[in-house]
Amino acid sequence: MIDLRESWRIGPVKVPTRVVLAPMAGVSVQAFRRQGRRFGAGLVCSEMVSCAGIEHRNERTLGYLRVASDEHPLAIQIFGSEPSVMAEAARMVAAAGADLVDINFGCPVRKVTKTGAGATLLDDSEQACRIVAAVAEAVDIPVSVKMRRGLENGSRRCLEVGPRLVAAGAQTLTLHPRSARQMYTGDADHSLTAELISLVDVPVIASGDITSRAKAQAVLATTGAAAVMVGRAAQGNPWALQEILLGEAAEPSKEEVVAELVLFMRETVRELGERRAAGFLKKFYGWYLGHGRFPRPFKQELVVLDRVAEVEARLFAAAPGARFVLQRIEAEQPIVEETLLDDMPISIYGGG
Ligand SMILES: Cc1cc2nc3c(=O)[nH]c(=O)nc-3n(C[C@H](O)[C@H](O)[C@H](O)COP(=O)(O)O)c2cc1C
Repeated sequence: MIDLRESWRIGPVKVPTRVVLAPMAGVSVQAFRRQGRRFGAGLVCSEMVSCAGIEHRNERTLGYLRVASDEHPLAIQIFGSEPSVMAEAARMVAAAGADLVDINFGCPVRKVTKTGAGATLLDDSEQACRIVAAVAEAVDIPVSVKMRRGLENGSRRCLEVGPRLVAAGAQTLTLHPRSARQMYTGDADHSLTAELISLVDVPVIASGDITSRAKAQAVLATTGAAAVMVGRAAQGNPWALQEILLGEAAEPSKEEVVAELVLFMRETVRELGERRAAGFLKKFYGWYLGHGRFPRPFKQELVVLDRVAEVEARLFAAAPGARFVLQRIEAEQPIVEETLLDDMPISIYGGG
C-alpha cells in the first residue's frame, strides 16, 4: 500500500500529499482550490489561463492570477502557442505568487487547438519544446506540463514528446492518457503512464478516472507515478478527496453538504461578483446535492433562482443545522491574505 499522505517534491516545491486537484476550466476557481486543500489535496491548480489574455491585460484573465495565502502549493496553468508570449505570461504567473507554472498541452477543445495551442502541440514537438524552454528560462519557479496521450485514438505520441519536454526544462509531467479525439469518452489507459514514467527521471502525475482510493492505489502501484490527479470525482464532492487520501468512506451529512456548498457560494461571489457567480454556480448545485443526498426536484428549484442569496436561504431552510457547521468551518479557516493584482509590481503591467 502506498501512503498517499506522504510528501514528495517538484524541484524545490514540497507537495504534502500524493493527491493533486485537477485544473478544470469553469470549475477550478479559488473557492474550489481552497476547499480541495482543506480536504487533503497536496497541490491545486488554476484552470487554464490564456497567455494572449494575459498579454493584453484582459481584466477577466488577470482575475485568474489571484492567489490566496492558504492555497500553496499552487500551480497556475497557461496555454498558448508562441514561446515569447508564454514566457511573458509565465513571468506574470510567478509574480502573482504561484509555486509552479503549468503548461497546457492537453486541451482538446477546437477553440484552443485551432490557435495552435493545447493538444495540437503534441504534434509539433519542436514548438512544444521551444515553449517549455522559453518558459523555464523566464522564471525561477518549476515548470510543469500537462498533456494527453496524443491527438488520435491509440496515439503514443506522449512517449516521444514527454522526454523531450523534460530535456527542455519541464520538472514534472502530468499525463491524462486519453487522446484529444476521445475527449472524455472511453478509459484513461494508465499502461501508457507507466511507459512514460520508465522514460523520464522527473515525477509524473497520473490523471484520468481516479474516482476512489482503490483506483488511486492501483494506478500508483502499477505506474510508479508520484501522485494521482483527481478531476471530475471532486466536482461538488470534496469528500472524494478525503476518501482517496485516508480511505475513510465518509458520506457527509445533509448539514455538512449545505455548509460546504454555502461557503463555496459565498467565496465564489466574492471572487467573481454576484452576477457572474449566479450563473457559474448553477452546475455546482447538482454536483453537491446529487449522490442521493437531496431529492432531485430540490436542485431544480434552486437552478431557476436568480440570486445567490435566495439559493442560500433555501439551502439553510432544507438543513437548518448547516449554519452551525458553517460557523465551525469558518472558525477553523485561516485568515487569508490575498495577493491582489493591485499589489503586483507595476512593471509587470508595463507601467503607466
Ligand atoms: C470541465 C473540465 C474542464 C477541464 N479543464 C482543464 C483545463 O483547464 N486544463 C487541463 O489541463 N485539463 C482540464 N481538464 C482535464 C482534467 O484536468 C483531467 O485531466 C481530466 O478530467 C481527467 O481526469 P478525471 O477523470 O479525474 O476527471 C478539464 C476537465 C473537465 C472535466
